[in-house]
Parts: sequence; structure tokens; C-alpha cells
Amino acid sequence: MAAAEPVDLTIADLHPALGDPALTSMNFLNEVSERYPAAVSLAAGRPYEEFFDLAAVHRHLDTFHRHLVDDLGHRPEQARRLLLQYGRTKGIVHHLIARNLAVDEGITVDPEDVVVTVGCQEAMFLVLRALRAGPTDVLLAVAPTYVGLTGAARLVDLPVWPVAGGSSGVDLADLAAQARRARAAGLRPRACYLMPDFANPSGVSIDTAHRRRLLDLAAEEDLLLLEDNPYGLFHLDDGPRPPTLKALDTGRRVVYLGSFAKTVLPGARVGYVVADQRVAGPGGRVGPLADQLAMIKSMVTVNTSPIAQAVIGGRLLEHGCSLVAANIRERAAYTRNLRHLVAGLTRRFPAVPDRPAAVRWTVPAGGFFVVVTVPFPVDDALLGRSARDYGVLWTPMAHFYDDTAPVRALRLSVSAVTPEQIDVGLDRLARLITDELARRAG
Ligand SMILES: Cc1ncc(COP(=O)(O)O)c(C=O)c1O
Repeated sequence: MAAAEPVDLTIADLHPALGDPALTSMNFLNEVSERYPAAVSLAAGRPYEEFFDLAAVHRHLDTFHRHLVDDLGHRPEQARRLLLQYGRTKGIVHHLIARNLAVDEGITVDPEDVVVTVGCQEAMFLVLRALRAGPTDVLLAVAPTYVGLTGAARLVDLPVWPVAGGSSGVDLADLAAQARRARAAGLRPRACYLMPDFANPSGVSIDTAHRRRLLDLAAEEDLLLLEDNPYGLFHLDDGPRPPTLKALDTGRRVVYLGSFAKTVLPGARVGYVVADQRVAGPGGRVGPLADQLAMIKSMVTVNTSPIAQAVIGGRLLEHGCSLVAANIRERAAYTRNLRHLVAGLTRRFPAVPDRPAAVRWTVPAGGFFVVVTVPFPVDDALLGRSARDYGVLWTPMAHFYDDTAPVRALRLSVSAVTPEQIDVGLDRLARLITDELARRAG
């Protein structure tokens, strides 16, 4: 018998979030893909790697350094210090982020209202930490939701109340009902988190009229909206994109969360938050919420790596601060893959006249994700068998719901694969689904 491993602490002595499914979900999914490296992964929401270019990273750094000297008038030793020394908590590319939001989104932002963060993940954490003032505070979030949001909320002891998403992206009647239900229970709903563009995992987008109604409702219910937008640039059709909530926000209702992981480089780990809400501080001094978030950041990560920020800044400068312009190849690849995946599903699961479809899927207007609904519960055990016996990975949709009810759906991602890999992955998935249907029928 193996000797029992000596134990110094038990999980019960640590923060209650540790061991919670919201925190273990990402590790579990990573472990499955590491255990089956030969499996085709339609699970990972990572960006396409074909365009990664180490030489470009050096060039971006140089471009940003030149910008500091030539455009902003820094002396060379000042510029060197800015890149290599500890630095401003709110970041050093805030002016370029403001310019990017003006160029691509028509959002006017004071750079002082921006905090540059270690990925969007840190931005979410800072905002939730700031909003969770006491034990009666709760966060509303459109379900299914990004697991990183749920995990961050757990870490700051902020309960998450699901709001129905539905086909419109957010069910406004349910949002109002949940806010009122929370208040009736003596709780204080602080904000509603949502992804209006090609949400992760649902792929659903909110149309412009519905966005306006959502902003009106947020004002009526006195809620902030936390708008997370990592995928908005990757739309299929060439028409105009709907305005972001932040672009429509005339009442400082929207806290805008940004990520450069999908539009520049995930390895840089740079994101940001626009928090222009006015906060009355000690002595009646009024400043942006961004300043309070920076206070928290100074005790979490001190400042975002200026080297990483410079890489992002250089890429922005090289494209006139437009990420639309910087992502033409990427958008084409994701568009090609999304169309290929949807066509591949249609071929493998043809409609049978007069019979309800056993297998259905969403057809999003952009982004990385398609949700496939099947007539049996999809859990981690099925994913394990899919990886081991069929050689294909995907994500059980149950990971994106904050309860334990069985979910009959899985998420496919098109972002990190080639069309050939999509074909192989779909063949394997179709075999798994066919076998599973037969097993359950017999
Ligand atoms: C909806 C959503 N928000 C935030 C993030 C995290 O972004 P970052 O890598 O910038 O921390 C992701 C990453 O997949 C995401 O899908």
C-alpha cells in the first residue's frame, strides 16, 4: 500500500472558491487536451497561430520606443526607463487605446479613464473586487457565461445570478425580474455582465435596437453594465458592425472590458478597462472609477508589464491605431473556418423532412464559437471518452452554467484549427454522436 502523503493544510482551510467548479474548469479542460495531444481540438478558444511572428514583436517594441521619442518628445533615457522600469499603475498605452476606441468603435474616451491590465481577466477581477462592497451585493450575468467571470466573482465572494440570454442575447424581462427579485430578497444587484458581440460560449449577438433598450433598462434599474468584447471584430459579413454598448452609453452606465488576446497576441497578456464612472472619494474629491481600480491593481499586479504594453502599442501604431486594419488576415481565417464548420455540420447531420432534428447547431454571425445541441446530456465523462476513443476535443456547455443541471450541448471553437482539422474533427464528432444515439436507443 502506498504511504499516505504528508498533509500540511486542507482545502477547507483555504478560500472557499478553491475547489469550486468555476475555478477548476479551465484546468480540467487544459488537462484533457494535454493528456490527448493527438486529438483534434475544437475546444480551445485560442487565436490562430499561423500568423504569430517573433520578428514582428521586436519591431512593435521598436515602433513604440520611437513613438515615445519622436511623437511624445521623451529623451532616450526617459523612454528607456518607461519601457524597463516599474511604471504608471494605469499603464503607458492608454492614449493609444483611447485612439483605437475612437478609430474602430466611435467611442470617445478620456485616456485617464483607462486602466491597462494583465489581460481582460485582471480587468474583470478589479471591477468585481471594487463593486463587491458588502455581503448583500450580487452580480447579474447573462447565462451561459464566460467561466473566467464566474471564477473571478467567486474569488471576491460575489454571488452570480444568472439572467436568461435567449436568442436576443439578453432577455430584458428576465433581467428586470432578476434585479427586482434580488432587491426583494434584501440584496443589491451591482451590475450585469454580458458579451453583446458573438458571446463566449453562445455565439449570440445583440442587435442595435435591443442594445438601446438594454441601456434604458439599466438606467431604470440603476444597474451598471459590464460589456466584455473580445470577439467583436470577427464578423462574417462585410456590413457595418453594431455599435458597442459603450458607444451608445450617454449616462456612464457601461464599464467596457477590452482584450488584446485575440486581436494582437495572447502571450502579451494585455487587456484594459474603460471606467469613466465618477466616484466621490474622501474629502469630496471626484475622480473616475478607473482611479479606484488602479488602487486595487497596485496591490495585485503593481503595473502591467510595460514591455508587453509596448508590443501592443507598436502594433496599434503600425496600423493607425485600428485593430480592424491589423486583423484583416485573422478575420478572413476565422470567417473561412466558421463557414467551413457550419457547412460541415450541415453535411454530416442532414435535415430529414418531417422529422425534428436530433442534432442542431447555432449559426453565429461571427466570433469563434458554435453550440451543438444533442438529445443526451453532455458531461466531462463524455468528453473524456471523446478524447480517448474518438480523438476529438470540444467543451461541454455545462462548464458555462453556474449550476449542476445536465446540459445537452457542447461548444465547438474554430479559432485554432485549419479547415482540414475541422473536417477530421467533425468526422470524429459525428461518429461519437451517432454511436451515442445508437447506444441510448438500444
Ligand atoms: C469573453 C472573454 N472574456 C475575457 C477573456 C480573457 O481575455 P484575456 O486573455 O485578455 O485575459 C476571454 C478569453 O477567452 C473571453 O472569452
